[in-house]
Amino acid sequence: MFQIIHKRELNAQTTMLDVKAPAVARRAKPGQFIILRVDENGERIPLTIAGCNQDEGTVKIIFQKVGATTRRLGLLEEGQSILDFVGPLGRESEFGDVAGKRVAVIGGGLGIAIAYPQAAALHALGAKVDMIVGFRSMDLAILMDELQNACTNLIVMTDDGSNGHKGFVTTALEEQLKAGADYQRVIAIGPMPMMRAVCELTRPYGIQTIVSMNPIMIDGTGMCGGCRLTVGGETKFACVDGPEFDGHLVDFDEAMKRSRMYRDQEKISMEKHFCNLTGEAR
Ligand SMILES: Cc1cc2nc3c(=O)[nH]c(=O)nc-3n(C[C@H](O)[C@H](O)[C@H](O)COP(=O)(O)OP(=O)(O)OC[C@H]3O[C@@H](n4cnc5c(N)ncnc54)[C@H](O)[C@@H]3O)c2cc1C
Ligand code: FES
Repeated sequence: MFQIIHKRELNAQTTMLDVKAPAVARRAKPGQFIILRVDENGERIPLTIAGCNQDEGTVKIIFQKVGATTRRLGLLEEGQSILDFVGPLGRESEFGDVAGKRVAVIGGGLGIAIAYPQAAALHALGAKVDMIVGFRSMDLAILMDELQNACTNLIVMTDDGSNGHKGFVTTALEEQLKAGADYQRVIAIGPMPMMRAVCELTRPYGIQTIVSMNPIMIDGTGMCGGCRLTVGGETKFACVDGPEFDGHLVDFDEAMKRSRMYRDQEKISMEKHFCNLTGEAR
């Protein structure tokens, strides 16, 4: 069992947990993830390792409550435990020589939680990091202090313009590119349509663009084929070959189609398991 040491609600949909998992904390690298199972009736879900504290042996996860499992996880309190917490899984990020180079890290939706450790790692390596994040409204903004400390230049966009910067993250990236930003690479993390839009923006500039793919994962070991993607015409498994790939080579049409495959089952699971647990109206 893996005990929750610290819990912080970042906003109504997003929760941060520090989980006691010393073996994972010792080996985790940026870009890697864990697969957890809340209890014996739970399904396995992947979450990115958002940070580690080696001294305390804890692993930080940040998640949005989007369905049955993430909502069950969000009900756990400090002192309670998670049944399975397996990792670190996936390949670590390959940053190369970024010292003094300008890079952009783009985070949209739940991608902000995943993009934050990437930006922090690049910043620590001496890169000049432009971080572009988007929220529906400033009321929903999370991790503002952490994001500010993880980059050189933080650009926050809102759908409703409540902070004076109305538009999507791609609006801000396009402005930066048109203004001549000489990015050595762009890292985009978030919903697939957003990552695809970022790739189409950077393609004409020939800027290397890394995306963190989030297909449905089941075993996380490369055995089940659930997270299959086509990258540069070759079949890849996001859990062992990724989750990061060259975005200009990813077949997004196929990936988006596959990610919608279990929509009906996800709805049934939410109604059956979560509503039974909380007594919430269906
Ligand atoms: C490598 C990786 C890292 C991720 N990191 C984070 C993170 O740090 N924070 C975060 O909030 N979310 C992250 N996700 C997404 C997270 O796994 C899903 O939000 C979660 O599985 C939803 O489960 P649910 O039962 O609550 O919702 P459901 O109602 O079951 O599903 C809601 C949506 O979540 C996705 N999803 C469902 N099951 C899985 C699964 N087994 N594998 C992958 N995606 C699934 C689907 O897109 C689905 O439409 C990550 C996904 C991947 C693949
Ligand atoms: S999750 Fe099974 S092969 Fe990747």
